[in-house]
Amino acid sequence: MKDLKNEKTLAAKEAVKYLSNGQIIGLGSGSSAYIAIAEIGELVKQGLDIKGVPTSEKTRELAESLNIPLLKIEEVDSIDMTIDGADEFTEDLQLIKGGGSFLLKEKVVASLSKAEIIITDSTKKVEFLGKFTVPIEVIPYAQNYVLAQLEKLNGTGKIRLVDGKPLITEQGNLLIDGDFGLIQDPVLLADELIRVVGVVEHGLFINIATRVIMGVDGGTLTFEK
Ligand code: 5RP
Repeated sequence: MKDLKNEKTLAAKEAVKYLSNGQIIGLGSGSSAYIAIAEIGELVKQGLDIKGVPTSEKTRELAESLNIPLLKIEEVDSIDMTIDGADEFTEDLQLIKGGGSFLLKEKVVASLSKAEIIITDSTKKVEFLGKFTVPIEVIPYAQNYVLAQLEKLNGTGKIRLVDGKPLITEQGNLLIDGDFGLIQDPVLLADELIRVVGVVEHGLFINIATRVIMGVDGGTLTFEK
């Protein structure tokens, strides 16, 4: 049986090799990113001089607990490199993210980043995106409208619940998990989704990742464009 935590750890250890003094680093969210943040905390303890930009409150709290110096997103014009996880990726580095509900901040940080390094275990590589649903952040007022529009895009959606209640994102929005089957054209779908009124952002990360490091049994595989 695969040891997914070990695969994530191998990928995280490989990713932090790209860090160097003076950099501003985007800190992702999710279990893989948290392993990388722990590795970064260790390097900072040993004298690495970087500043992090968190993609969620949970990440901010973790980084603070590890004494990683932080900057607010408003304080940076650009980020040298971000390390984050993904729910699915294809060999041409298109992603689904947002399983952990932080896709909006993750996409803002990724968009400011010169390099977006994604770390995953070996279950995340797919031929076509879409087995994992596409998280879509919507303003609460527009939820029914957006759900109806998804059907026009040959999809269905469900409001994400936690303990039976709608999950509220850090921005005060709802998440719809959109099911479009296997996505033949993620570029087109991404474009169509963002044009639906009420959609704030979605978890299709198109042409954003610059490198995916996937942990495998005993090592890592790197995918680059
Ligand atoms: C959070 C994310 C995560 O990066 C994604 O869900 C992967 O999580 P994990 O590393 O726990 O498998 O997009 O919004």
